[in-house]
Amino acid sequence: MITWGISANSHNAALAVFDNDKLLFASDSERFSKIKNDPDLNPALINYALQYGEPDKIIWYERPWLKTLRQLTAGQGFQDNNVKRYLKKYGIDAPIKTISHHKSHAAAGYYTSKFDDACVLVIDAIGEFECFTQWEAQGKDLTKYNDLEYPQSLGLFYSAMTQRCGLKPNEEEYILMGMAALGDPNRLFKQMFNEFISLPNDDYGHPYRLKKNLHRGCKDWMPQFTSQQDLFDIAAATQRIYETIFERILQMAAQSSSSKNLVLMGGCALNCSANPIAYKYFNNVWIMPAPGDNGSSIGAVLAHTKNHIDWQGPYLGYDMGYHASNETIVDYLFENKFCGVARGRAEFGPRALGNRSLLADPRDPKIKTLINDIKQRELFRPFAPAILEEFADQYFKMPTKSTPYMQQIAVCTKSESFPAIVHYDGTSRVQTVSKSDNPEFRKLLELWYDRTGCPMLLNTSLNIKGEPMLNDHQDAERWSKKYGLPVFN
Ligand SMILES: [Fe+2]
Repeated sequence: MITWGISANSHNAALAVFDNDKLLFASDSERFSKIKNDPDLNPALINYALQYGEPDKIIWYERPWLKTLRQLTAGQGFQDNNVKRYLKKYGIDAPIKTISHHKSHAAAGYYTSKFDDACVLVIDAIGEFECFTQWEAQGKDLTKYNDLEYPQSLGLFYSAMTQRCGLKPNEEEYILMGMAALGDPNRLFKQMFNEFISLPNDDYGHPYRLKKNLHRGCKDWMPQFTSQQDLFDIAAATQRIYETIFERILQMAAQSSSSKNLVLMGGCALNCSANPIAYKYFNNVWIMPAPGDNGSSIGAVLAHTKNHIDWQGPYLGYDMGYHASNETIVDYLFENKFCGVARGRAEFGPRALGNRSLLADPRDPKIKTLINDIKQRELFRPFAPAILEEFADQYFKMPTKSTPYMQQIAVCTKSESFPAIVHYDGTSRVQTVSKSDNPEFRKLLELWYDRTGCPMLLNTSLNIKGEPMLNDHQDAERWSKKYGLPVFN
């Protein structure tokens, strides 16, 4: 039985293919269409998915009629959310079942985890109506315990401030998070908090309330704040507020849940600066590597089957095979300091984790500027390290032993030796690489370590400016031509 899980017609469309309980394929639509954050499906993605067979069933990641109702309530007018009609445009005609938006998130997290029980938290901008949910997971069952509905959204608050700082909401929140390290959170924290947030102590057990509906942003908030430093300070206060509320959510969840395992999902689970706080309240934390709406393509199917799957990692996309050897790549890196690597199956989710990566020597003081030039991105943005897992605690104050999907920051204890991978606040978004995470990438890092004594490489996503991460051999060729550097594939 082939089942497709689909998340589309909103933002970051994605498609997942299951054969019964086996996850065969998952990809963001953007990798095939080459349109960054493509909200729609496309024929190239569908053709690739069809190699696994025609779908017998489609599971859609949210309830369309409920979404239409919310859009009308929110004054967004009538929008066509008819799934059958939408899928027909792409030639997909199979029985359709729908799952609620937050349940798809919760299921994507819980049923890919190794936990038999868990407290599941979903924090995002907006589902149909739900913006925050807490679930109690036991065996095969997921039961909702608490929720907050539109417009009580921590994600909308973060997105509104993203827009206030001149960035693209629903897309560039990670840039705001990076900016926060350069600002003074104390300058605006109190004022921003008092204006936007209240912390109720009511019988409902709601962890927070928003005083304003921020669905349409707050572009005019504090208009006199226009300098770069002002924007850094807004970012810092925003991040501090997010962390304050996030900690309260965790505290209340830990008190009310019988489990010491936490599953964290929704777009806010990408806040790697805040995520380490979770370890203060839970013993084990699992964040699926695509915790946003794209991951709900997997979650919709899992909410339907209610079965844990054998999670093998995020390497679920287009397969480029392995042609270039690790020896060739390490030789090149040793001589030339950086290059592209595109091998094996593409990562599902927002991070390049070794299969579509620009790799570089993290010890070289010039490397950060050189790569920022290639990627044409803001100079304040940090790059991440990929490190052999057993060495991580020698270089970083790790919140936990393994962080294979770059979901947590950790303070670098030898920052002067690795200028390219340390942010202004002394932290790095660490990717630990064990033998089971990604065997070929692991071997590449081992070879690099044998050659240099350095157990890590700088690892950033391989993409042409304005485009999504590269997917196939044609993309690799275009990248090489554009930047005059090899992509080993
Ligand atoms: Fe969501």
